[in-house]
Amino acid sequence: MADRDDYKIETILITGGAGFIGSNFISYIMGVHPDYRVVCVDKLTYAGSMDNLNAVADKENFQFYKADICDRENIFKIFESEKPDIVVNFAAESHVDRSIENPEVFLDTNIKGTAVLMDACIKYGIKRFHQISTDEVYGDLPVDRPELLFTEETPLRPSSPYSSSKAAADLLVMAYHRTYGLPVTISRCSNNYGPRQFPEKLIPLMVFNTISDKTLPVYGQGINVRDWIHVDDHCRAVDMIIHHGRDGEIYNVGGSNEVANIDIVKLICRTLGKPESLITFVPDRKGHDLRYAIDSSKLRNELGWHPEVDFEAGIRETIEWYKERYQNIPG
Ligand SMILES: NC(=O)c1ccc[n+]([C@@H]2O[C@H](COP(=O)([O-])OP(=O)(O)OC[C@H]3O[C@@H](n4cnc5c(N)ncnc54)[C@H](O)[C@@H]3O)[C@@H](O)[C@H]2O)c1
Repeated sequence: MADRDDYKIETILITGGAGFIGSNFISYIMGVHPDYRVVCVDKLTYAGSMDNLNAVADKENFQFYKADICDRENIFKIFESEKPDIVVNFAAESHVDRSIENPEVFLDTNIKGTAVLMDACIKYGIKRFHQISTDEVYGDLPVDRPELLFTEETPLRPSSPYSSSKAAADLLVMAYHRTYGLPVTISRCSNNYGPRQFPEKLIPLMVFNTISDKTLPVYGQGINVRDWIHVDDHCRAVDMIIHHGRDGEIYNVGGSNEVANIDIVKLICRTLGKPESLITFVPDRKGHDLRYAIDSSKLRNELGWHPEVDFEAGIRETIEWYKERYQNIPG
């Protein structure tokens, strides 16, 4: 498929690029579009790290700004000097448990920060604003109705302060499109796995604890189901959407790969040769979503995307990646 002919990309501004998915996206995009100049804006919260950008930090066509997307003055200054063609917003507070403890920072970054970025996009005539959203905006599905999947038409019914803030941002993105004519797209992806995720999330946390022979805390009975997708497949989807996706459209991205949390944890134990007796069930997360399952047929049919990474191979490689990094850290 040819690139869009109504805009040419020279500079792409990526927020949240020092985090898990953003850093994988930067590596991906600089690999497939070596002619693009990539500008990364990240506040470097606890979840972001310059180590995640080691592979690209010295490249001539890479520029990093430590900045908060809520800081209007600074963000406008960066847009003024960098003049990006398109903006991809990965920056977010992303951990559901933290949002339950302290919702406010989620409202600031995920909603207000998105608005600041879009205001800058309008002022500087950006050709496309792409919002990285999540399948969590749809709420959850029953575990005993496997035929039910989230489509782009599924009503928004978020459960946590995190997913509510992401849903609010999505509504704002569509409102900016309609009210101000800002060219936008949104992608709503399911749970990603892969390297460079902060070790508070299920897979890196469980690998760390398993290696350290610590208990493996699993919420409830571990029956909650997530639709796991390799981060590289997500990155390819975003690349396709920013180049070929239709203005004003939302695209679901999912791995069609539903796995219960308990099975992920058992898989980690098996892969690392540790006993399942490390698993302990802990009181369930408040409002815990039961099941996420994504219908990505719009993305598949319109843009020809499909997940390429085999789950068995991808998850084994991911577990090995964390094992290598964690094995020398004292437990
Ligand atoms: N991880 C998943 O499985 C998943 C699935 C679907 C969608 N998403 C979405 O993808 C995006 C990235 O998720 P992730 O897992 O990589 O998150 P992450 O927490 O690993 O990274 C977030 C990054 O944003 C930066 N950041 C936070 N607040 C900021 C601010 N105010 N200004 C500038 N930078 C700020 C952090 O420093 C960090 O580098 C999020 O929008 C999330 O909602 C994640």
